[in-house]
Amino acid sequence: MDVFKIYGGRKLRGEVKIQGSKNAVLPILVATMLHRGRSIVHNCPRIRDVFIMIDILKYLGCKVEFIDDTIIVDASGDLKTEVPTQFVSQMRSSIFLMGAIIGRERKLKISYPGGCDIGHRPIDLHIKGLRKLGVEIVDDENGLMECVAQDLKGCEIHLDFPSVGATENIMLAASVAEGRTIIRNAAKEPEIMDLQNFLNSMGAKIYGAGSNTIFIEGVKKFKDVEYKIIPDRIVAGTFMVAAAITAGDVLIKNVVVEHNIPVITKLEECGCTLYYNDNELRVIGPKRPKAMEIIKTLPYPGFPTDMQPQMMALLSIASGTSIIYESIYDSRFKHAEELNKMRADIRIDSRIAVVRGVDKLIGTSVVAKDLRGGAALTLAGLAARGTTIVEGIHHIDRGYQELEKCLQDLGAEIERTSY
Ligand code: EPZ
Repeated sequence: MDVFKIYGGRKLRGEVKIQGSKNAVLPILVATMLHRGRSIVHNCPRIRDVFIMIDILKYLGCKVEFIDDTIIVDASGDLKTEVPTQFVSQMRSSIFLMGAIIGRERKLKISYPGGCDIGHRPIDLHIKGLRKLGVEIVDDENGLMECVAQDLKGCEIHLDFPSVGATENIMLAASVAEGRTIIRNAAKEPEIMDLQNFLNSMGAKIYGAGSNTIFIEGVKKFKDVEYKIIPDRIVAGTFMVAAAITAGDVLIKNVVVEHNIPVITKLEECGCTLYYNDNELRVIGPKRPKAMEIIKTLPYPGFPTDMQPQMMALLSIASGTSIIYESIYDSRFKHAEELNKMRADIRIDSRIAVVRGVDKLIGTSVVAKDLRGGAALTLAGLAARGTTIVEGIHHIDRGYQELEKCLQDLGAEIERTSY
């Protein structure tokens, strides 16, 4: 079993180039199947979730090549319309397949995605939106969702919650529905804008992404496309916290600073010094971070839930007590008990974490339970006294391309080894 072995205490110095966005490339790879032709996507990260999505596309009948950071999809052939359960249980975001396959083939059989390590993750908003577009969805005798759409008709859809996945799934199906679809209370994340821009470069007619109302005029045909996805704002935020937690000085390149404003603001409040222009930023960490009265995770442009674990690691050594309120997921604090094994002082009550800053974390063995929690434990190991072993790093490999190598290049004493 692979682990990270980290010897803490090094101040990170140097520069790091940020990978393409996991949460942009996944829906865009699915969107390529709306077009019976070729799509070329640049700046794709070589991470486990991308390889799984490529396996799914190949299983369904696409030809896919992944050369350096470019993925070429040829979806001109006939595609299967049944997604095996093991794919969906492996990766929840395969649920985006509903919008694309139903949009193309008007039918699909797929299982419900399970909850996962960060809490209950229903898909009621996805189903409600697709049904409004004219998709019949019933459970078959094996508990799979059997979806059929005689035709897809544009309509007005109001999301009870600005769900990222539901917004993306509805955009995919609506892009080929007859007439106009309006999505109200849509998610505003940068990855939604990237999906809109990709679909439009393929010939779709969508506008409003990034605001809470998205307008989609259905089209009949798409064209071959070449596209470059946005940088990963959560990976960028993770390296920003790596500089902060080690009192380092790191230049982070290939970012869209605009996408990172929520994290930049919080790090400045913690006492970091940041210099930035449009696509790079320098983070200088303080001797000791200041505590935050309260950090509440919110849909974009609020503070991102995917940065909550990393921020908890930083605040665990702050001077004072901080409160974290996790408003998006109902159990995204599994990393807290692991941080407490490193002598952090964190108390959890439902969606609230009270983080009493300690002078020093002490290295020990900890277990990553999910992707961002694993990143947080790695950051904690960089700051801790002595050696930290992080188990469960397959979670980290889902979203970070060669995390340990990037950190080594910044001067961290970290290695991937097997136990
Ligand atoms: C996307 O997940 C991201 N994943 C998540 O990133 C991210 O945490 C999340 O958006 C929020 O920003 C990808 O883009 C692949 P949601 P998604 O639908 O689409 C509730 C990471 O670490 N909800 O916005 O699944 C749901 O229970 C991952 O990279 C419903 O109630 O997120 C949750 O509480 C983790 N009904 C909240 O909305 C629904 O039908 C946010 O879910 C759908 C969602």
